Amino acid sequence: MEIDVFTLFPEAFGWFTAQRHVTNAQAAGHRVGFVNYRDHTPLRAGQVDDTPFGGGAGMVLRVDVVEAALQARYGADPVRVRGDRRVVALTPAGRLLDDSLADELAAEPALTLLCGRYEGFDQRILEHFVSDEVSIGRYVLAGGELAAMVVCDVVLRKLPGALGDERSALEESFSVALEGAPEYPHYTRPAEYRGWRVPDVLLSGHHAQIHQWRLAQSRARADERPLP
Ligand code: 6GU
Repeated sequence: MEIDVFTLFPEAFGWFTAQRHVTNAQAAGHRVGFVNYRDHTPLRAGQVDDTPFGGGAGMVLRVDVVEAALQARYGADPVRVRGDRRVVALTPAGRLLDDSLADELAAEPALTLLCGRYEGFDQRILEHFVSDEVSIGRYVLAGGELAAMVVCDVVLRKLPGALGDERSALEESFSVALEGAPEYPHYTRPAEYRGWRVPDVLLSGHHAQIHQWRLAQSRARADERPLP
């Protein structure tokens, strides 16, 4: 998997790219790269955005600036690039990210993530350069960077080699193995603390019973907190 993040703030990803599952993924041959729109702008003084036609608050990321950055990175007309790789714009009203969209993105050989800022993208970017719009929830962030980090995080941790123990990604909340339900509760030592005891079945060493107990807990949580 090769991920390119287009952003005005590549330095914002410093903490994220130092995370263990990200460095593991890179050691396994996956790649995360960053392109700063500002490094490729055809406009003077590093300009990348402009005021909206028709008036209104905020600034809009320009279509010519995004075209120049995509062209510089891929050496091709961005209208064609989206036929070769999935080009995702992070937008508040996009398709909601969930575990199945994360699986879909993780199966791609190459992903491009476009972060907007200010009031967002000129609509022509979304119509002509982008294959998908993705949102991480129905609220508005000041920019797409946090959303792009969320997308990178969920996608990278699904790749073989990213997690220390591959079993972590199989039986987790919302996975197929748990029928889309939230994960069961976990306990560790001490077995008793302030009189709060760990369920006996987990200490029993009886793997089939433990598995049944965990599935039942997971289903009970799904009933308690039904998805919208
Ligand atoms: Cl992807 N971008 C922005 N700016 N705000 C968001 C979002 C994305 N997803 C939820 N809110």
